[in-house]
Amino acid sequence: LDSKAFRTALIGWYKSNRRELPWRETNDPFLIWVSEIMLQQTQVNTVIPYFQRFVQVFPNLAALKRATQQDVLSVWQGLGYYRRAKNLLAAAKSLKTVPNTFSELLALPGIGRYTAAAIASIAFGERCAVVDGNVERVISRLCCIDESGSKLKRKCETVSQFAMSDVNPGDWNQALMELGATICRPLEPRCDKCPVAKFCNANRTASQSKYPMAKPTAKPIKLIHACVCPVHQGKVGLCKVASGQWWDGMWQFPRTEVEASETPLAAAERLGFADLKGLLIVKHSVTRYSITLHSFVAKLKNQRRDLKWFGQDSISELPMPAPQRKVAEALRQTVIST
Ligand code: ADE
Repeated sequence: LDSKAFRTALIGWYKSNRRELPWRETNDPFLIWVSEIMLQQTQVNTVIPYFQRFVQVFPNLAALKRATQQDVLSVWQGLGYYRRAKNLLAAAKSLKTVPNTFSELLALPGIGRYTAAAIASIAFGERCAVVDGNVERVISRLCCIDESGSKLKRKCETVSQFAMSDVNPGDWNQALMELGATICRPLEPRCDKCPVAKFCNANRTASQSKYPMAKPTAKPIKLIHACVCPVHQGKVGLCKVASGQWWDGMWQFPRTEVEASETPLAAAERLGFADLKGLLIVKHSVTRYSITLHSFVAKLKNQRRDLKWFGQDSISELPMPAPQRKVAEALRQTVIST
């Protein structure tokens, strides 16, 4: 991307194809600030009428400083995310002029890296890269960046900051945003209309749909448990889950973890039962854990003191962990002949 030809193609396209937007007709830092706050999490077309109304009522910082929160909220009414309006007003009240650097802007309430970079580059020409979702998509495709999440964001910032070279930073950033919004769309990008298609690695390798890569979901932690359903004279033995453990206070069939070195059956035998017959395997996910519970039926009464014996019908009243409940249901379906 670090070539004069790339910059010329991108900026040339932007200058002749950019959408006419009210905040693109001004250099006033106050108006650009307001527009960038409104554009957080909100589409361009939704923002336009709100922006126009806002700047009629509050044409400059001095006018906004005189407003009450109620005044600002009533103009913001319908745009959503009202926290933005409150932060905007709070920031305005603390200022004499709109700060003219990225780092001072970043210190204001409601302004993150993305918005600080947008205002600093568009209003003051500071050489800082704006990376929003659109820009991430554009750059991850141009460079085939095999990263996601915050690593991708940081890489895109570095690439963009370096590649913008000596072009006008506000034009550069808005050109990348505009390209992402209108050409380099998430689905079915219009590569045939793209001014920089010939520089694009995803286009060259037909891998546009691979980028930006989805953030991998955290790998679940796998747990394998075994439990035994003791059955004696038509009754079923359960014990209470010890306090401090998961499912504290609920009722369960005697259960243990299956160690990596043993089979589920061997683990179940450790619980002190004999004559075990496999019943059901239950899979259950909670938060980051994926639990596989192997259940067995034991037809012999054992010596454990912690067991309480219940009739099949009274079990449905007891609080039980979800996977244990499934085991109890399966046990009920099984004809018990003891
Ligand atoms: N989204 C955020 N800032 C923008 C801008 N200045 N132009 C277009 N889309 C934007």
